[in-house]
Amino acid sequence: MGERLIDVRTVLLPSLLKAGDVENRVVVVFDVLRATTTISTAIAHQAREVRVFDSLEAVQAAATAYAGPRILAGEHLCVAPSGFDLGNSPGDFSTACVAEKTVFLATTNGTRALYAARKARILLTGALVNAYATAILLHHAEVKDVTLLCSGTGGEVSMEDLLGAGAVIDHLEKLQFGRLTLAEDVSRLALTAFRQESTDLRAALERSQGGINLARVQLYKDIHDCSRLDTLHAVAECDPATMALTLSPRL
Ligand code: MLT
Repeated sequence: MGERLIDVRTVLLPSLLKAGDVENRVVVVFDVLRATTTISTAIAHQAREVRVFDSLEAVQAAATAYAGPRILAGEHLCVAPSGFDLGNSPGDFSTACVAEKTVFLATTNGTRALYAARKARILLTGALVNAYATAILLHHAEVKDVTLLCSGTGGEVSMEDLLGAGAVIDHLEKLQFGRLTLAEDVSRLALTAFRQESTDLRAALERSQGGINLARVQLYKDIHDCSRLDTLHAVAECDPATMALTLSPRL
């Protein structure tokens, strides 16, 4: 298994995705601040599933129509819309809060990036918190072609997603004994950025536009929570038919 080479490609924004980046490939979506950190946390804390939506209206309607135990979560301008149970703060998705429940989630960038990649052969979410778990999954599963898709912030490239992709590449390169194939310069950029910033990821996230946006609404703890490298051993996998994420059985 350690002999198998994985071809990795990194895409900086959903708007830059080409069909060939998605079809027949494993796609890992990153929205480090905060959607994919939140999804990974909810799944690690035994949420039954996280159903993602591309608008607040759609998530609200689906949650209202659902009869089982559920949490309605999401953000607009970083805070929970009125009437929602939770915003998008990963620290709020504790076992006590989400275990055995269905989480309905819509966010500005991250959940939409998942929709953009829904034609992938396998669709996963990655973050700094589960970078090692994601790399282990990719290393051990029967995958060869991997696209790391950064969600960005408001249509702009975001540093934190590049760092998330770089963290997975860094782990994968070690797991593959340095024989990883990086298909283009964006992956090399991600790896370089991660290695440069890895001694203080929290500070790097604070300097990013997403971090500045969160600091504006005093969500400093979220920046800290999203910077905690390799603290969760869980990877969420999305069923493209239902856009529901559950714990990947591949890990
Ligand atoms: C998003 O998906 O747009 C982000 O997670 C925004 C946020 O920080 O809530």
